[in-house]
Order: sequence, then structure tokens, then C-alpha cells
Amino acid sequence: MTPLARMVSTGRFLPDHVVTNEDLESRIDTTDEWIRSRTGIRERRLAPDDMGVAEMGAGAGRAALEEAGLEPSDVDLIIVTTATPDRWLPATSCEIQALLGADNAMAFDLMAACTGFLYALSMAEGFVTAGRGDTVLVISTEKMSSIVDWTDRSTCVLFGDGAGATVVQRSEEGDERGIRSAFLRADGSLSDLLQRPAGGAARPLTAQRLAAGEHLVHMAGRDVFKNAVRAMAHAANTALDAAGVKAKDVDLIVPHQANVRIIEATARYAGISMDRVFINLDRYGNMSSASVPVALDEAREQGLIGDGSLVLSAAFGGGLTWGAMTWQF
Ligand code: COA
Repeated sequence: MTPLARMVSTGRFLPDHVVTNEDLESRIDTTDEWIRSRTGIRERRLAPDDMGVAEMGAGAGRAALEEAGLEPSDVDLIIVTTATPDRWLPATSCEIQALLGADNAMAFDLMAACTGFLYALSMAEGFVTAGRGDTVLVISTEKMSSIVDWTDRSTCVLFGDGAGATVVQRSEEGDERGIRSAFLRADGSLSDLLQRPAGGAARPLTAQRLAAGEHLVHMAGRDVFKNAVRAMAHAANTALDAAGVKAKDVDLIVPHQANVRIIEATARYAGISMDRVFINLDRYGNMSSASVPVALDEAREQGLIGDGSLVLSAAFGGGLTWGAMTWQF
């Protein structure tokens, strides 16, 4: 039998500073009622100016290593997912490697927006099951507050900062716990729906583009919403089929936490009842790729995922990227 890869631990790091919808009412033309009814979000965490994603990611990574009883020197590979790297060069994963003192690790960044954690899990699975190494630390860390336009009420209310992590190792022979299926896709023809237009090689930042806010997040919210529901429901059903299980067999669904209406619509399409869907976006907003691992860590802490639980995750984000995975903890 092909060996399985499994998540042996999880960890998270959230900045202390809470910003409520009421706090935003004094900054922009919005209301708590609008934000809650359209998105389900009540508050989010924002990192201070001098805290970058490497610091948050290292915090989450340390927590995951500690739970697994591992030293940083045990890590063979660090994969970091982020849409908000501290610098464009070097990769944030290298900065985290140094902060952790993971002296035996290779490290790289993976950019797949909000689907990043699932993409990275799939890469980690390939690495350990191919025998390239024993231990992969996957870290998703995002400072969305650094790239949203704080004058654009249709985007700035949606996002928050934070980091989540997991340690992936090969399952012991005969151990049936592990990743069961993955369905991951991308469609770059829809890249304009969610983007930062300037600041890269093709459209370098000029004073004019900076003044126009072209370095910040631009999103066609309604189109993203429609695509998200369709794509996540299809991905969830495909991942369930590939694992040979039905929605009713799943103990907990841990979706990307962008908008509770997207999650409810996806669950309806996929025939999944909401009482088995984990939600924490009310407290954190959309933390892009960090949303799923933070939610996993909290769900485990709350006893909603235990040893042997079957979990389904689905995510969607800029790229466009999307996908779903199933695994047994
Ligand atoms: N407060 C008050 N009013 C707001 C507002 C805010 N924060 N943001 C937008 N509005 C207004 C709009 O200006 C618009 O007013 P108008 O009708 O006078 O023009 C009205 O609310 C409706 O806007 P609309 O964009 O149609 O709302 P919506 O129901 O589609 O909800 C989103 C907007 C962004 C919440 C929703 O489209 C969404 O969640 N999309 C997906 C975004 C996402 O999750 N992206 C990340 C994917 S990983």
C-alpha cells in the first residue's frame, strides 16, 4: 500500500489587537449590521506595524513543533504560504527558518492566495511519501491589513491577520490516519477578479500608481462570491468521491473562512448540514491562507476533531485557485 502522509500537530498565532465592526464605523462609512449580515464577521485581529508575517508564522510553527514533540532541527522542509511576504526577496520561509533555528531544513514560499494551505499540504504529502524527508512544517501566515485599502469599505472590512501551522509526516505502516484525497485547481483567466494590480515586475510601482492605490487589493466581490460557491461545492464533492466517502461520513468540515454566506451556500450545494461546519470567521475575518490551519487548530482544541476524525476542507481564493482535501486525523 502507498504510504499516507498525516498531520501530526497544529499550531496558531494571532495578534492581540482586536478591531470590532463598531471600531470600523468610526473610520469608514459602514455599520456593524451591514458587515454582520453580509459576511458573518464581528471582529478581526490586526498585527502592529512592526510585526511581520515571519514573526507570526514562526509563532505558529513553534506551537506546532512543540505539540509534535519535535525540535526545529528535526524539520526537513518548511513551506510557507503567504500573499503578504515581509519582503519580495528573500522568501519569508527563509526568514522563518532562521527565526526557528531549523538548521537542517530547505525552505520555500508558495503563493496560491487563500487556497495556499491546501496546496502546501498536498506538496508536503508528496515530499514525505516519496521519502525525500521525514518532517515538513507547513506555515500559513498573512498580514492582510498591510495590503487592503483602508478607504475601500467593500474590501477592508473582510480581512484580518494571523498564522496557522501543521507538521506533516509519513504515517507508520498500517496506520490508516492520513490524507485521503485532494482536488486542487487554478484558473488564471479569472485573475483580475482578485488582484493587486501594481508593484510586481510587469507593472512596477510608480508615484502615480501608488497614489491610485494600485498596490492594494482590488476585488470584484460579487463575481468572486459566485465562483467561490460553485468551485468549492464541486471540489468538496470530488474530494469526497476520490476518498470513497459520503458527506455524512465526515466528522467536521473546516472550510476557508471568507464569508458565512459563501460557506452556507457551498454546504447547501454539496449537501452538507451546517451543524458539522466549523466557523470562526466571526472572530477573525478572512485571514487568507491562514484561515484553514487556524480553524483546524481551534477545532482540535475544542474537541471537535479527535484522533481518527474524518475532516474535509475546502478553500477558494485569488488566482483563481480552489480545492478540497479529506484526511483522517
Ligand atoms: N458597509 C456598508 N455598505 C457597503 C459596504 C460596507 N462595508 N461594502 C459595500 N457596501 C455597499 C455597496 O456600496 C453597495 O451599495 P450600492 O448598492 O449603493 O452600490 C451595497 O453595499 C451592496 O454591495 P454588494 O457588493 O452588492 O454587496 P454583496 O451583498 O455582494 O456583499 C461582499 C459584498 C464583498 C461581502 C460579497 O460580495 C462577498 O463576500 N464576496 C466575496 C468576497 C471574498 O470573500 N473574497 C475573498 C475570497 S478568498
